[in-house]
Amino acid sequence: MLGLSPEMAGKDASNTELVALAQTRLYPNYRQAPFVLARGRGCELFDVEGRRYLDLCAGVAVCSVGHAHPALVRTIAEQAATLMHVSNWFYNDVNVRLADELCRRTGFARVLFCNSGTEANEALLKLARHHFYAQGQKDRMRIVAFDNAFHGRTLGALSMTGTPKYREGFGPLGPVTHVPYGDADAVERAMGPDVCAIIVETVQGEGGVFPPPPGFLARLRAIADTHGALVLADEIQTGVGRTGRFLGSDGTGLKPDAISLAKGLGGGFPIGAMLTTEKLAGALPGGTHGSTFGGNALASAASLAVLKILDDEDLIEGARSKGAVLAALLSDLAREIPAVCEAVRGEGLLWGVAMRPGFVAREVLPQIQEAGLLLTGAGERVLRFSPPLVVSVAELNEGVACLRGVLSSLGRVRATA
Ligand SMILES: Cc1ncc(COP(=O)(O)O)c(C=O)c1O
Repeated sequence: MLGLSPEMAGKDASNTELVALAQTRLYPNYRQAPFVLARGRGCELFDVEGRRYLDLCAGVAVCSVGHAHPALVRTIAEQAATLMHVSNWFYNDVNVRLADELCRRTGFARVLFCNSGTEANEALLKLARHHFYAQGQKDRMRIVAFDNAFHGRTLGALSMTGTPKYREGFGPLGPVTHVPYGDADAVERAMGPDVCAIIVETVQGEGGVFPPPPGFLARLRAIADTHGALVLADEIQTGVGRTGRFLGSDGTGLKPDAISLAKGLGGGFPIGAMLTTEKLAGALPGGTHGSTFGGNALASAASLAVLKILDDEDLIEGARSKGAVLAALLSDLAREIPAVCEAVRGEGLLWGVAMRPGFVAREVLPQIQEAGLLLTGAGERVLRFSPPLVVSVAELNEGVACLRGVLSSLGRVRATA
C-alpha cells in the first residue's frame, strides 16, 4: 500500500499501525484522537477497523450535508471530469454562478473567493485597511476585535484572534484592540480615528460557543457608523445555515460591510469567500490581492451543490427545528448532571455544554470518543455540538444519551473524590 513501510504493504493497516506512522510522519502541531477514520456516510464515520462513530461535530461545522452525500459526490465527480482549475487569469462558468448565487442569498454585491476561513479573514483585513488607504487615510489601520475571538492562524488573522495562548510567541502582530464580547460600551471606548474596522463573530464558536447578547450586534453597526469605520462579520462558523438562518447576522440588526464564509460553504470541499457591499468594490483593485486556487471550478461546483441540497432538503429550517430539539435535550442533560454541567448555550445547530471549572474538554473528549461519539472542544471546558445539518432527531437523541453516560460517570467520580 502506497506510503506504508514494506512490512505493512499489501495488508490492511490497523489503527495502531497507522497512528504510529502518523506520529512519525505528520508534523506534530495537532493532537489527533488515537484512531484513523476511513469512510463516512451521513452522520456516521468509520475507522480503518470498521468501528462506527456518530459524528456530531461535522469536521468542526464543515460537513453540513453529511458525509458522502450522493448529490455532492456526483457533482464533484462530474465537475472533476469537466473542469477543475483555470486560475484567475480566466473566468470559469461555475464560479460566476456561485458568486451570483451567494449575492442573491445574502444581499451582498461582490464575492472574492479563496480556500479557507483564515484566508477569507485575511482578505477582510486587507480590504478594511486598503479601503481607507485608498482614500488617503493611511493611519486608519487598527482593528477592534473581541476577547476569545477566533479568526484564524496566519499572522493577520492571528492578530484579530483574541486568545492569548494562540498569539504567544508570534508577535509582533498588527494593531488590534480586544474587548470583551458582548460589551458594546467597551467597543465604544476602544474606537478612535485610527480604527478601520470592528470584526465580530455572530456567535463566538471556538471561544466557547457564546451567542451575542440581545441588541449587541446592532449596536456595533451604530458605533461603527458614528466613527466612520467598517463592520466585518466573521461568518465562517455561523454562516451557510448553521444558526438556522443563512447568515448568523440575518435578523440581528447588523448589516455588515463585508463578511467571511468558509467551513459549511463547501460541505467538506475547501473553499472560502469574502462578500462585500458595492461600496467596497474598489477597495482592492486589480493586483492588490489574489489566490491561485481561489474560485476554482471544482470548489465552486461543490459549493453550488451544497446550496442546492440546503434548499432541496430544507436544511436551514431544519437547523432551527432540530436545533430546538438539541437545545431541549442538552438543557435536560445539564439539569440532570449539575456536578459536571454549568450551562448550555448556542443557536441553531451550534451548541456548547460548558462544564464546571476543573473539567477540561480535551481530557473528557477521549472518553466521549471511546463511547462512540465525536464532538469537539471550544474554549477550555466547553463540549461543542456542530452536527451535519442533515442530522436526524434520532441521531441527536443517540448522541446526547451517549454524552449523558460519560458525564454521569464523571459526576460520580467527582462526587466520590
Ligand atoms: C469563526 C472562525 N473564523 C476563522 C476560522 C479559521 O478557518 P480555517 O480553519 O478554515 O482557516 C475558524 C475556524 O475554526 C472559525 O471558527
